[in-house]
Amino acid sequence: MIILGIETSCDETSLALLEISQRKGQLFLNPIKSIVTSQIKIHAPYGGVVPMLSAREHVKNLPIIFQRLARETYGSSKKLKTKVDLLAVTEGPGLIPALLMGVNFSRTLAWAWEKPILGINHLEGHLLSFLLPPKTENYQSSITNPEPHRVQGHKPHVVYGFQAIFPAICLLVSGGHTQLIYLKKISQYQVVGETLDDAAGECFDKGARILGLGYPGGPVIAAEAEKYQKQAAEGITTTIRIALPRPMLNSHNYDFSFSGLKTALLYSWQKLSPIEKNKLRPAFAFELQEAITDVLVAKTLKAAHKYQVSSIILGGGVTANQRLREKFQSVLKQNDKFNLFLPPLEYTTDNAMMIALAAFFHWQKQSLRFPKNSWQKVTAEANLRLS
Ligand code: KG4
Ligand code: ZN
Repeated sequence: MIILGIETSCDETSLALLEISQRKGQLFLNPIKSIVTSQIKIHAPYGGVVPMLSAREHVKNLPIIFQRLARETYGSSKKLKTKVDLLAVTEGPGLIPALLMGVNFSRTLAWAWEKPILGINHLEGHLLSFLLPPKTENYQSSITNPEPHRVQGHKPHVVYGFQAIFPAICLLVSGGHTQLIYLKKISQYQVVGETLDDAAGECFDKGARILGLGYPGGPVIAAEAEKYQKQAAEGITTTIRIALPRPMLNSHNYDFSFSGLKTALLYSWQKLSPIEKNKLRPAFAFELQEAITDVLVAKTLKAAHKYQVSSIILGGGVTANQRLREKFQSVLKQNDKFNLFLPPLEYTTDNAMMIALAAFFHWQKQSLRFPKNSWQKVTAEANLRLS
């Protein structure tokens, strides 16, 4: 089947086509095409996403991307209509003005095409994105000559099915969420820990603002931290010792807290002269990244041991962070108890492919009793939770 995914929960407008087939108990995924347009430039001057500006951009972008998707895959929207079996749109969580644009667009399309549609939880999309194969280099050839990708993990034995993956602990880290989720299997989620205040991505973003590094914070902090690592490798060191806290590292639960870390950064930073700031910015960025990633790795491992899982799964924009990936890879190399599943880089931040994928598993459960006018049931919900 072919699923058209639509994602507009924050500042990315995205459409994707995903082909899924099942043979002999295996799942074959063929990501036909993914288009993601980012609004970073529009929001950057404000240091964060402005909801109404984002809604305006989604309205402008959706029809343009839709036409492009149709043209670059099957030649026309008429042809695309004949190919798509199911529509899937992000219902929440997210910014209401932004969500409404995607929901409205998708409901109208489902109604006009007379196709079924499912509303999807954005977090479930992030959580399942590790199943997606890296983007096909040449999507055209994958359409005319389907060459489906097997579901892949980091350990080859996992390709044979889902049994080896579950139970699992997923660390879901994005701009708005930081959660540890216990997965007994797909669709059975239990949040076992979460942030009590700021999300990890938010800490990167606010930290970058404090350090005068721009928006979004994750990639700029990572780039600045890399500068520091290069300097350190060349023997250039700082005389000032920079030590930020690792909040709740040793707490007896699986919750997080990042707002104190941000405040600690602010206080240390404010004490510096402009010359010192220029000199020490890379070192501060590095220490902030170390503090955030140390806590994320330690808490995830703690939960993985407690819940005796087979695997650790990562999902969400912050998992684009190379240092975080390296730390997980390195601790799990020493302790081979858990499989590690990482999303391909292009599916770490917001995208519609993960929404299409999540829809498949709901479709599997529902297809026999799917409501006729399913578009009437799709809504936007800012605070939608995983259940
Ligand atoms: O999942 P996502 O695209 O959107 C939400 O659902 O929130 O995550 C966005 C977050 C932002 O806070 C951004 O700074 C962070 O992911 N991010 C990163 C990196 N790339 C994006 N954080 C750390 N390192 C990165 N390389
Ligand atoms: Zn997201």
